[in-house]
Amino acid sequence: MKFSSRAERIEPFYVMEVAKAAQALGREVAGTDHPMIFLNIGEPDFTAPPLVQEAADRAVRSGITQYTNALGLEALREKISQWYLDRFGVNVAPNRIVVTAGASAALQLACLALIEHGDEILMPDPSYPCNRHFVSAAEGTAVLIPTTAEERYQLSADKVEAAWGAKTRGVLLASPSNPTGTSIAPDELRKIHKVVKQRGGITIIDEIYLGLSYDETFGQSALAIDDDIISINSFSKYFNMTGWRLGWMVVPEAMVPVVERLAQNLFICASTISQHAALACFEEDSIAEYERRRAQFKARRDYFIPALDALGLSVPVMPDGAFYAWADCTQAAQKLGVSGSWDFAFELMKRAHLAITPGRDFGTADTGRFVRFSTANSMTQLQESIRRLQQLIG
Ligand SMILES: Cc1ncc(COP(=O)(O)O)c(C=O)c1O
Repeated sequence: MKFSSRAERIEPFYVMEVAKAAQALGREVAGTDHPMIFLNIGEPDFTAPPLVQEAADRAVRSGITQYTNALGLEALREKISQWYLDRFGVNVAPNRIVVTAGASAALQLACLALIEHGDEILMPDPSYPCNRHFVSAAEGTAVLIPTTAEERYQLSADKVEAAWGAKTRGVLLASPSNPTGTSIAPDELRKIHKVVKQRGGITIIDEIYLGLSYDETFGQSALAIDDDIISINSFSKYFNMTGWRLGWMVVPEAMVPVVERLAQNLFICASTISQHAALACFEEDSIAEYERRRAQFKARRDYFIPALDALGLSVPVMPDGAFYAWADCTQAAQKLGVSGSWDFAFELMKRAHLAITPGRDFGTADTGRFVRFSTANSMTQLQESIRRLQQLIG
């Protein structure tokens, strides 16, 4: 069978090999006193709070399960708009909000709406692997620009300016980032957007982890900068609803009808049940629960990152959001008699029963030295992980 070159261009997820091996070994050691601890999972260990579960149940039982408008339920778009005002002090009109099947669908819609064959999109290295694949699926080319710890692993205005070429169409950023949990300083973002706008380009920013921000300096939405910025978001992370497949994006008004046309044809609408459930995310009790959980994520970060550092698994920049630790494993790998993050991850899995993610999928610059730990796990499990690391490399 012959497959399209578009499909062939999509690289495999190497981390899945590690995840599969960890699951297989995890089954073997499940009943022992040394079960596998999974620190490779990029999703919250919480599920949706009670009011959200009840709202989903009500939607199913009362049969309100028909398609919605392609742009999403009006009431949900209004709630999201109010959330921007309450949480970030930004006015975002509901008619600029498009509800989608997760941030993934939002990213696909944005790329299909804006990218022509051959267009180049600048993004940081390391970054979330799917982002470059969304670009290539739209027949564009992702141009990865190596970043440094001093730049918080984000693009700078200078680098964007230097990399801009005849085919460049814009930038795709994520703040806070996966895998580093670090954000772009608001002033730098303003400068980047200025460079992009002066060249007639587009700024797309993935703010899926913005709700899980722990630092006021960085916890601001890019939407405060300019109505031209396209912001991607989701119910997956802060709202703990990964499998409900619900997200949204905020687009300039002129882009709404284009995205609506694409969404109608490609998806019809996001899950109706999830949309009705998500209305309850914004109830006072739900927000209070989400904020308690955000405090837990922060407490885990505050415990885990210094503990990794003390073991020589240095995390060059303290994450200001999300639930990841991007750690240099050079020294630790040497202690285990291996080199590189790929072998280190396998060694850790076999000898300490700790599943983590090697840097390889997130880019090519320096990623062979780094591993990603996810702290979306209970404090007890995180403490046990550090104990095992101490035994092995301490
Ligand atoms: C940076 C980033 N963007 C987008 C996504 C996709 O999220 P969703 O579940 O909303 O499709 C993820 C998922 O891990 C992510 O880390």
